[in-house]
Amino acid sequence: MSKPLENKLALVTGSSRGIGAATAIRLAADGASVIVNYAASPDRAKAVVDEIKKAGGRAEAVSADLSSPEGVKTLNAAIDQAFGGEFGGRIDILVNNAGVVEFGPFLESSDESYDKHFNLNVRSPIELTKLIAKRMVKASSGRIVNISSAFGEAAPLAGVTMYIATKFALHGFTRGLSRELGSTGVTVNGVQPGPINTELSPEDAPGADVMKKLTSVGRFGKPEEIAAAIAFLVRPDSSFINGENLTVDGGWNA
Ligand SMILES: NC(=O)c1ccc[n+]([C@@H]2O[C@H](COP(=O)([O-])OP(=O)(O)OC[C@H]3O[C@@H](n4cnc5c(N)ncnc54)[C@H](O)[C@@H]3O)[C@@H](O)[C@H]2O)c1
Repeated sequence: MSKPLENKLALVTGSSRGIGAATAIRLAADGASVIVNYAASPDRAKAVVDEIKKAGGRAEAVSADLSSPEGVKTLNAAIDQAFGGEFGGRIDILVNNAGVVEFGPFLESSDESYDKHFNLNVRSPIELTKLIAKRMVKASSGRIVNISSAFGEAAPLAGVTMYIATKFALHGFTRGLSRELGSTGVTVNGVQPGPINTELSPEDAPGADVMKKLTSVGRFGKPEEIAAAIAFLVRPDSSFINGENLTVDGGWNA
């Protein structure tokens, strides 16, 4: 039986661990050839690639630090060489996943923290999308998914104001761009995860119980549960879903 993403090239930013890794593995299982982007941990990116290959899928790791415009350009350029140039510069799926969060009172936050949040969570997905969407528009086909957050449309907790500001920005970017690209064959959607058990947000961290209780299912989600939502949005037959920010949060923002 053919797989839904066969002959598609997908790029998942920040996919050496967490939600990004689960997404790379899921998209490969659905038939895509996947570029696994990482910034600092080649061993972990290699482990994701190895897992995909072991399961019969296709993946390549590409190093690019997306906290800088140079990293964005490097990653975009890597598309031309991906899988020996097999896709001829075409890219079908972009998942803007890499992100960072720092906790603490806003009034004590630093300029460095502002730069860290906005460079990785806002500037890099916007700049990367600008480069990659041009490739997609040329092909009259593409799927872009921005990983925002349940904090992308509400503020149920204190101490994450800077992060909330970036995720609202990404949410708005998704909506605005979906309007601009709507007639081109390229869809732009978002996924807004609630608390997911990753190294960014471990379910056994101090205070994690508060987040658990804010969900109606009474637990943290698994990275695979976000990957499943992303896999749905990038399917060829999800072509009428555009400008949606799909909340996958165990009922947090109900
Ligand atoms: N875990 C959660 O509860 C949760 C909830 C809502 C939204 N999110 C969002 O989901 C996304 C993934 O989060 P996660 O929980 O898997 O986090 P994580 O920290 O486990 O993974 C983040 C990924 O981004 C990569 N990354 C970090 N800095 C980078 C850089 N400069 N350049 C390239 N890659 C870089 C990391 O290597 C890693 O692969 C983030 O955008 C996050 O804001 C997570």
